[in-house]
Amino acid sequence: MKKILITAGPTRERIDPIRFITNPSTGRIGYLLTELAKKKGFDVTLISGPTFLKPPKGIKVICIESAKELKKVILRYISQVDCLIMTAAVGDYRPLRIEQSKIKRKKELILSLIRNPDILKEAGKKKRKNQIFVGFALETENFVKNGLKKIKEKNLDFLLVNNPGFFGEAKGKKVVKLIDRKGEIVDLSLLSKRKIAKRILNEIDNWLCK
Ligand code: CTP
Repeated sequence: MKKILITAGPTRERIDPIRFITNPSTGRIGYLLTELAKKKGFDVTLISGPTFLKPPKGIKVICIESAKELKKVILRYISQVDCLIMTAAVGDYRPLRIEQSKIKRKKELILSLIRNPDILKEAGKKKRKNQIFVGFALETENFVKNGLKKIKEKNLDFLLVNNPGFFGEAKGKKVVKLIDRKGEIVDLSLLSKRKIAKRILNEIDNWLCK
C-alpha cells in the first residue's frame, strides 16, 4: 500500500499566552485530498494545523500549531512515505520572542518577526528518486514563472498554483494551474475543489505506478 503524507490548514505562531499570528486557510483542500486518497486505497497520514474540519475516519492525524512543530513532524515521517502533499499554509514569519505574560495595552506595539524555515524546501533536499512531492502556491501574478521557480527551488514534482480567488477571499477570476517539473501546465480553473483534488491524486497514482 502506497503511503501519502498530507499537510493541511494554517499555522499559528504565538505572540503571548492568548495571542497568535495566523492566516485564513481552512484546510479544506488538504482534507478533501485526505478523504479521496483514503478512498483510492492509499495509506494516509494527515498533519493538520488548527481547523474546524473533521478528518475522515480511519486516518492517522497529527495536530500541529507552529511551523517549527510542522517541520519536526514532516522530517520525522518523510523517509517513510511515497508521496508528500503540502497544502498547509505555512506562516513565513514568527515573533522573535513569545511573551510569557499577556502583553498589556499600550500606545504602540512593535512586533519583531523572524523568518520561519521553508519546510518544503528542506524536505525537498531529502527527497528520494522514487518519491513524489506536491506543493501548493498562492500567487497574485506571474503564475507560471513563479510556479516553475518554486518547483525548482523546492525540488517538487507538481505544484498547484492558484490565486486568492480560489479560497473565495478575493473577488475576481479564479486561477488554478497544475504545473509539473517538466513545465507542463494543466488549467484547472473551472473545476471544483473536489475535482481538483481528484485530478491531483490521479497524477500521483500514475507516477507511483510507473
Ligand atoms: N511552504 C513551506 N514552508 C514555508 C512556506 C511555504 O513548506 N515557510 C510550502 C507551502 O506549504 C507550499 C509551498 O511551500 O506547499 C509554496 O508556498 P508559498 O507560500 O507559495 O511559497 P513561499 O516559498 O513562501 O513563497 P512566497 O514568497 O511567494 O510566499
